[in-house]
Amino acid sequence: MWSPTLISTLLSLSLLTHRTLAGPMMPDPRCNKTLSECSRTGEALTKQAAPRYPPNNSTSKLNSTTPKNIGIMLYRGFQGLDVIGPFDALWSLGRITPLNVYFLSKDKGTVRNKMPPSVTGITTNSNTTITVSTDYALGEHPPLDVLLVPGGLGTRLSDQELDLYIKFVKDIYPSLQYIISVCTGASILARAGLLDGKNATTNKAAWKWATQFGKDVKWQAGARYVTDGNIWTTSGVSAGVDGTIGWIEKVFGAETAEKVADELEWNRSAPDSDVFGKKNHLV
Ligand SMILES: *[C@@H]1O[C@H](CO)[C@@H](O)[C@H](O)[C@H]1NC(C)=O
Ligand SMILES: *[C@@H]1O[C@H](CO)[C@@H](O)[C@H](O)[C@H]1NC(C)=O
Ligand SMILES: *[C@@H]1O[C@H](CO)[C@@H](O)[C@H](O)[C@H]1NC(C)=O
Ligand SMILES: *[C@@H]1O[C@H](CO)[C@@H](O)[C@H](O)[C@H]1NC(C)=O
Ligand SMILES: *[C@@H]1O[C@H](CO)[C@@H](O)[C@H](O)[C@H]1NC(C)=O
Ligand SMILES: *[C@@H]1O[C@H](CO)[C@@H](O)[C@H](O)[C@H]1NC(C)=O
Ligand SMILES: *[C@@H]1O[C@H](CO)[C@@H](O)[C@H](O)[C@H]1NC(C)=O
Repeated sequence: MWSPTLISTLLSLSLLTHRTLAGPMMPDPRCNKTLSECSRTGEALTKQAAPRYPPNNSTSKLNSTTPKNIGIMLYRGFQGLDVIGPFDALWSLGRITPLNVYFLSKDKGTVRNKMPPSVTGITTNSNTTITVSTDYALGEHPPLDVLLVPGGLGTRLSDQELDLYIKFVKDIYPSLQYIISVCTGASILARAGLLDGKNATTNKAAWKWATQFGKDVKWQAGARYVTDGNIWTTSGVSAGVDGTIGWIEKVFGAETAEKVADELEWNRSAPDSDVFGKKNHLV
């Protein structure tokens, strides 16, 4: 972990020379600078519109192996949209096909996204916290077909606090049909060893920090989302919705995916349609 003094030194230095300072083990200072690690969406999209997602009309047939039970893993310090965006896509999907979405956390009960300054590196008295209620503790939930792992500043918590989550992901993965990560949630998958040798992506504004956990991962800096086998990783925050709708298309067909996107009024981005890798000088 970085000491507060070191962090503030790095932050002030980085204002001048952040690109040259950014080594592989260095957290991305722009993330802490803007507080939200994933807050750079709208501006770029209006400046450089992503191409309309290519229509794919092929539909897959629903059968007994069709995934139905989806867990969303919450830890303290999750990023709100990482959770609620994909959740809303699944909510729409649940109007079309039978679905169970379960919220899981270490001890069940409420989980807050509030993070202390020791983790965020930012002192402010803003009150911008969301609290989500979870019904299941890790390991005490109904069987899952799919697990969704959000990102957020909570991925910077101590190993001691995150180990349980990392172990959970590692243990449950072999029984899943799919696993989907959003934003820096990929760092949890990487720490669980799931991404070794795989193509994957993560938040572009937190790239240096998040990718340090996967030395053997083929990180794709120009992707909106990446699929490798049954592992789906998405870029920062809003990309979780594109990844989730892409996953819906793969599993439930193009027509269903379009219904979901239309219901959310979501302008989809293709997996390779990304502007944030470039904006963050990664490609
Ligand atoms: C959606 O994307 C297309 C193509 O990039 C663009 O022309 C259109 O204006 C966008 N629509 C909305 C509602 O943003
Ligand atoms: C896909 O569907 C659209 C709209 O229904 C149609 O215009 C298009 O021809 C279809 N494409 C293919 C490859 O079937
Ligand atoms: C279920 O559907 C999937 C994808 O469409 C297919 O690969 C699989 O073989 C099907 N399983 C059964 C039991 O029909
Ligand atoms: C933000 O600051 C905290 C410590 O204050 C540090 O642990 C974390 O890695 C930093 N994150 C980024 C992306 O700079
Ligand atoms: C946030 O809430 C705390 C506790 O109620 C309060 O002391 C603080 O002034 C609030 N912040 C702002 C920006 O009003
Ligand atoms: C991984 O990405 C590379 C290009 O970046 C691609 O050539 C390769 O097919 C991908 N592998 C898988 C398994 O998708
Ligand atoms: C279209 O969707 C099917 C699954 O529904 C997938 O197997 C296929 O690769 C997709 N095609 C394109 C061009 O994305």
